[in-house]
Amino acid sequence: MRDEVEAMAKEAETAIGAAADMGALEAARVEYLGRKGRLRAFYDQLKQLDADSRREMGQLLNAVRERLETLLADRQAALEAEAEQKRLASERIDVTLPGRAPRIGKEHPLLATLEAAVEIFLGLGFRVAEGPEIETYYYSFPALNYPEWHPAMDEQMTFYITDDLLLRSQTSTVQIRTMEAQQPPVRVVVPGRCFRRDTVDATHSHTFYQIEGLLVDEGVTFADLKGTLEIFAREMFGEDIHTRIRPDFFPFTEPSAEFSLTCVKCRGAGEVGGQPCRLCKTTGWLEVGGCGMVDPNVLENVGYDSERYTGWAFGCGIERLAMLRYGIDDIRLFYMSDMRFLEQF
Ligand code: DAH
Repeated sequence: MRDEVEAMAKEAETAIGAAADMGALEAARVEYLGRKGRLRAFYDQLKQLDADSRREMGQLLNAVRERLETLLADRQAALEAEAEQKRLASERIDVTLPGRAPRIGKEHPLLATLEAAVEIFLGLGFRVAEGPEIETYYYSFPALNYPEWHPAMDEQMTFYITDDLLLRSQTSTVQIRTMEAQQPPVRVVVPGRCFRRDTVDATHSHTFYQIEGLLVDEGVTFADLKGTLEIFAREMFGEDIHTRIRPDFFPFTEPSAEFSLTCVKCRGAGEVGGQPCRLCKTTGWLEVGGCGMVDPNVLENVGYDSERYTGWAFGCGIERLAMLRYGIDDIRLFYMSDMRFLEQF
């Protein structure tokens, strides 16, 4: 029996020593030291022995048990230490690795231009007004003094949703909503997104942004309009940039005008370094928007007394301003979300 015990002990020692993880170690414990284990079986045989051998074998079994328990505990401690080591190694932070720079978003050039424009008008005492992009037919046309039959409505190339609902084609619609909601004096700028059934090319987009200005009060004149546009042009593009106003037509203004800025490339010279300026086609001027004195009919439509109040309005495309500001020649770049383009600003 002694030999069998020693053989079992050897086997157990090997199994414990070879246990590669807690699962294997527990299996070895159950097999050799468990309640139905191999050692237990030897204890069960003791009662068949005579007193002397029983004492002797009993001592041997106790010694083996103690040895195996110690080995088991040691092996368990070793496995735990190993697991801890592995965990530490996997969680180790290599402070010498190059850092991962956080990606910082940048303001889109259109938004930056829009905000720069708004900022100038805030400085002049205007506030920002907004209106819905999905607009009613009334706010889009009749309220703005478009006669029922007027071809100017076709010019707007409107996206209709229903007979009465459409995507606004200009921020001018917000003039009406603003005036309906308050009494004069009115001093607002309206930045906003507009939509037209335009074919997309280098200078056209079905979706685009405008900024609209509206001022209504007693005694407002065309000179106030011209002066305000002049300040806007200079603040936006520099002291040497001026404005030019020429007759035009819009249903909601009378008189109406288009306004131009000194060419931001040739600064009005019509040529750059002896070469004809291609941006302004040598005219020295760039047309950027429309403006005029608010038509009395529009004032009456919102319930203002057109005998007492006069006003002016203007509207211009943000894309156009941004293209001039950054020297961009294709409007489509604004909407492509190409990081190579956007990261330059
Ligand atoms: N809404 C016009 C357009 O989109 C621009 C415009 C012209 C706005 C004259 C105005 C204005 O406020 O008075 O073409």
